[in-house]
Amino acid sequence: MANFDPSKRDSFGTKFGVIAAAAGSAVGLGNIWRFPYIAGENGGGAFILIYLLFIIAIGIPVMLSEFTIGRRAQRNAFGSFKKLAPNTYWYLIGLMGVVAAFVILSFYSTVAGWTLEYIYLSITNAFADKSPDQLTTMFESFKSGTFRPIMWQLIFMILTAWIVIAGVKKGIEKYAKILMPILLLLIIIMDIRAVTLAGASEGLEFLFKPDFSKLDTNSVLEALGQAFFSLSIGMGTLITYGSYINKKQNLTTTAINVSAADTIIAILAGIAIFPAVFAFGIEPNAGPDLIFRTLPNIFQQMPGGYFFSLIFFILLGVAALTSSISVLEVVVAYFVEELGILRKRATIIAAVSITALGVLSTMSWGTFGEVRIFNFNIFELLDFTASSVLLPIGGVFIVVFLGWYLGKNYIKDEISSSGLYKTKLINLFILIIKFLAPIAIALVFLHGIGLLKF
Ligand code: TRP
Repeated sequence: MANFDPSKRDSFGTKFGVIAAAAGSAVGLGNIWRFPYIAGENGGGAFILIYLLFIIAIGIPVMLSEFTIGRRAQRNAFGSFKKLAPNTYWYLIGLMGVVAAFVILSFYSTVAGWTLEYIYLSITNAFADKSPDQLTTMFESFKSGTFRPIMWQLIFMILTAWIVIAGVKKGIEKYAKILMPILLLLIIIMDIRAVTLAGASEGLEFLFKPDFSKLDTNSVLEALGQAFFSLSIGMGTLITYGSYINKKQNLTTTAINVSAADTIIAILAGIAIFPAVFAFGIEPNAGPDLIFRTLPNIFQQMPGGYFFSLIFFILLGVAALTSSISVLEVVVAYFVEELGILRKRATIIAAVSITALGVLSTMSWGTFGEVRIFNFNIFELLDFTASSVLLPIGGVFIVVFLGWYLGKNYIKDEISSSGLYKTKLINLFILIIKFLAPIAIALVFLHGIGLLKF
């Protein structure tokens, strides 16, 4: 096995490319599929307020911490800890990130596969003249099947692997730069249609009028988990991407821009979806099925719906793709740099083993529906383990590592690009990563899993 030569590392080419790639990672199914249904299950407005608070107080600092660690080390998630903290056990966080990447991509590719089916259904005009009930049945029978959902999942994983094999600049960055602006434009068009639906106001009220009585014990942990999942933080994706960022780029503004873009797209997705949820009498707590049951209703009622439906599901697939490549890249960068496997082979090995777990996740909506652990099916268990357990734990250790182990001088030098940028808020940042973020995440986590009662 050849050893990896660090001087041959690939990197992002332009400033816009970095933002597009990182926003491409952040903006995905988490925003358009997961955020609306989780917000729906937790009663809407009040949940969203807590979510926003977590993005600002915890999410942005964790994201900046990941960029800082990665760019400093110029390595994959695992190798970054090895290099910055030699002869310690800190590398275990990187290893946990690699494990989390497996878990996340296995259920992510299930939903991405559903998206491809919906592209196909859009092409064949399958939503036309169907009632909301019929559209629901259509989705239920598709997702509980075996052949079709697995076939789409495989196709999606092949696409993901194909881009990752092409590399950082010529694969990941190139596609993100083209696809992200189109995504924004399309979601705005969807919003305009949604808010002009009869009965839209009920949906908007659900989103923006906080009702704290609707929150339960789990809501706060779910809001935290959603913030981590949506920003792609807590498992070293952005350590990996940070290692591809040019030394002269401003990491602080990058983290703020990417987080803002991610949050805006999540809210825009909510605005596109909830008016239709209420207008067509679907329950907002429908769970993971929500968008697949609501959006086809809008499409078949709007002028040009055929066209918009097609474009929307293509873009959802694309958003999923620019995210899934970032998850796969974590594993691939680790295989390439630490185990000395060539990029192409590393990608294939990673993609095949993730898909094996992914097939179980897909089948947990049908054949394996009876397999239940803590009342979750396999898909739900993978999602919960990653989002509500691995990501928050990873997040705590990432900020603690930067704040306590590496310390202020390191942080200041890297974040200021060795004095190129002012670092006015550095003390606030350090205060957050040393104290506020780890304590808050720990409390929310322990409370959410029931180990701590207030
Ligand atoms: N953030 C992506 C989304 O919202 C998913 C994702 C990509 C992710 N990379 C990640 C989630 C790393 C957690 C960790 O769809």
